[in-house]
Amino acid sequence: MKSLPAALATLTLAAGCVGSPQTSPAGGDRSMGVGPITLATGKVATEYLQPLLDQWNAAHPHERAKLLELPEATDDQRAQMVNNLRVKSDRYDVLNLDVVWTAEFADAGWIIPLNRGDFPLDRFLTPVVDTALFRGQLYAVPYTSNAGLLYYRKDILDKEKKSPPKTWAELSDLARTVAPKYKMGGYAGQFQSYEGLTVNFAEAVQSAGGAILTNNGTDVVVNSPQARAGLNFLVGGLREGWIPKAALGYKEEESRKEFEAGHLLFLRNWPYVYGAFDRAGAGNAVKGRFGVVTLPGSDASHPGSSSLGGANLAISSYSKHQKSALEFIRYLTSLPTQRRVLTDGSFPPVWASLYDDPALIKRYPYLPVLKESILAARPRPQSPNYNQVSLIVSNAVYGALALQDSTEVAIMKMDADLKGAIVNR
Ligand code: GLC
Repeated sequence: MKSLPAALATLTLAAGCVGSPQTSPAGGDRSMGVGPITLATGKVATEYLQPLLDQWNAAHPHERAKLLELPEATDDQRAQMVNNLRVKSDRYDVLNLDVVWTAEFADAGWIIPLNRGDFPLDRFLTPVVDTALFRGQLYAVPYTSNAGLLYYRKDILDKEKKSPPKTWAELSDLARTVAPKYKMGGYAGQFQSYEGLTVNFAEAVQSAGGAILTNNGTDVVVNSPQARAGLNFLVGGLREGWIPKAALGYKEEESRKEFEAGHLLFLRNWPYVYGAFDRAGAGNAVKGRFGVVTLPGSDASHPGSSSLGGANLAISSYSKHQKSALEFIRYLTSLPTQRRVLTDGSFPPVWASLYDDPALIKRYPYLPVLKESILAARPRPQSPNYNQVSLIVSNAVYGALALQDSTEVAIMKMDADLKGAIVNR
């Protein structure tokens, strides 16, 4: 059997022969790393992507990009990528990585370091760029950002002469008293046991002024009154019924569909659902009837705080077409493509200027709220064992939300397990 570098050289040379001059990447050396590429990304609202790939493919017939859709849940996407990378598979060239995986993938050597000078990073939102760094080195390029928002039924609140809630007390009062009048559930987020639940819990803790870990991820600070308050807010909703029990099975898409069908008064979700709610269609009961605001805080003195989400594009260390992959990433993160990420995909772009564009604000009135939420969002710790940290959090929180464990038991379990995970890192 050929050694990997020998096999690589053969393949890249073969790929180098087929290109025509007008299709070569700008300034590229065509002898290495040029050829067809596969973009691996989670299957959530991906419909807008194929036209972007078609445009690239028309201009790059010898470096065609193919879309490979991975499962919907972020944890399952990670598992599939990790399985491939562990066996050094070249199946994926460009990886659309959740912002919380940069450290793990870089530390494991699965993605290649990149040159900052190859990308217009100074034009991107600053906190977003930080998510693509590991120990100061760039390993991925910001592609979409994300911050949690509160969607509400504007038609109903208007009818009841109520404003959208700014605090948990306002939210739970409305969810408890108004929602039943309209035969709907009060509030939901993403409460299935996975990364989405870690995010929802972290946001609740932060919105009470606390945290799970310190900013640098080295100390566990979850044994606090703020974390207990955050968990009690969610547990209270399930216990009192203003969070429907079914929400324990919701990820982003299930919860999006429930709100869209008119079954919920309030929903915590990411900005991508705005596009779906705003698009007329059978099964959409909320077009023209919803509003969106920043997440509520625990009380008037604590503004709501989102977790910083999003995705960055990285190049697999095992890709045989890394040069084409790099050019493709430059295309996907360029200003014209980023504008379409917003207008066609309803995903938050990473270019700062798009949030201040008056024409875009007119069309997407939530852009200023979104920018504010992204800039104020709290990043999750950049740690190679983030996945283990997150599993500990989501398991313990789920036990409390399912009303199997008390808040006290869940917090103490999280505290002990997180300390173990951090010490054993
Ligand atoms: C979104 C966010 C991502 C987060 C995930 C949780 O995809 O962009 O950062 O981890 O939701 O489900």
